[in-house]
Amino acid sequence: FYRRIVLGIETSCDDTGAAIVSEDGSLLGEAINSQTNIHVQAGGIVPPVARNLHRDNIDGVVDEALSQANLSLNDIDVVATTIKPGLASCLSVGLQYTKNILQRQHRRKQFIPIHHMEAHALTIRFINSISFPYLVLLISGGHSLLSVVRGVDDFVLLGRGIDDAPGEVFDKVARRLRLKDLPQCTNLSGGQSIEVVASGGNPFRYPLFPIMTRLADCNFSFSGLKSWAMRTIEEEELEQGVLLCEGHISNLADFCATFQYMVFHHICRRVQRGLLFCGMKGLLGESVNNLVISGGVASNQCARLMMSQLCQHYDCHVLTPPPKLCTDNGIMVAWNGVELLRANRRMYDDASCFQVQPKCP
Ligand code: KG4
Ligand code: ZN
Repeated sequence: FYRRIVLGIETSCDDTGAAIVSEDGSLLGEAINSQTNIHVQAGGIVPPVARNLHRDNIDGVVDEALSQANLSLNDIDVVATTIKPGLASCLSVGLQYTKNILQRQHRRKQFIPIHHMEAHALTIRFINSISFPYLVLLISGGHSLLSVVRGVDDFVLLGRGIDDAPGEVFDKVARRLRLKDLPQCTNLSGGQSIEVVASGGNPFRYPLFPIMTRLADCNFSFSGLKSWAMRTIEEEELEQGVLLCEGHISNLADFCATFQYMVFHHICRRVQRGLLFCGMKGLLGESVNNLVISGGVASNQCARLMMSQLCQHYDCHVLTPPPKLCTDNGIMVAWNGVELLRANRRMYDDASCFQVQPKCP
């Protein structure tokens, strides 16, 4: 039978991504343009700059995905585009581009609006056919979130970040420590640098900083820990009369190991609460025995070790998509489109009545 072909478009933050996935789940073409280096130099994402880069690159990215697939826009049956949540001006580039494609109507096409977080949460099923329900933890430079995935469009949000994202905190602390000046950290992100410096360090050098210990929910908070880190660095520097980043590597290793441990200790506590919730009889109908961790921060080995130790107690498997699928990309958006069309969910003949929803649940 004929297999429909889905074009996925992602522009919610700082990556312009496109991918072509067929209804049977095969990847036909993909391309991505990352703006990360440009934004790192500017010290953060400036939305108009990001929007202009999306505008400049979207044609090329889609063309590249099409040419890998040996297809033209004419061959596309369904366009799936991220319309929420994200930066308004960035999301608009992808949606406007989609509206233009649909209006040109080389051949009848249908539209599926995509939720960025749901796309992250479903990505694992593109490479591993695990069944619903499962638990998903997303930890990156932009988000922290814990959710039960009960179906292609059925999510029970258990917890979300109430302040800084974990990757953001890793990046800020790494910058304060000037880790990028260290030879072993050249070209690494803040989180990767902390992981590298932490190896061999003592993670129990400082007493555990308590985070939200009195709140009985699954939300995440990292800003208190960030302040603790900044304060501790300052105290250490004053005490030693030397910058923590200069020399004193053993001390620096202990600091990074402890900081990293505290971030993941908090995350594990929240996940543990989620696992307990999932185990409660009758709440979900079926038992949850898979935990999917994704997002840039999920590539941390300490995180993976702590998470698998935790999950062992609950007979739960830990799964992680390959690094390229953990970060923002077009494949996850096209795949979410495939999941929805396979499940016969609603598709639209027209995208013109849709608007982006930068802040949405
Ligand atoms: O998902 P991602 O690539 O992009 C966005 O969030 O947009 O995540 C990037 C974040 C950065 O903050 C980076 O410092 C963090 O993930 N990260 C890590 C590691 N690798 C990347 N954090 C901790 N440990 C790592 N190994
Ligand atoms: Zn994302």
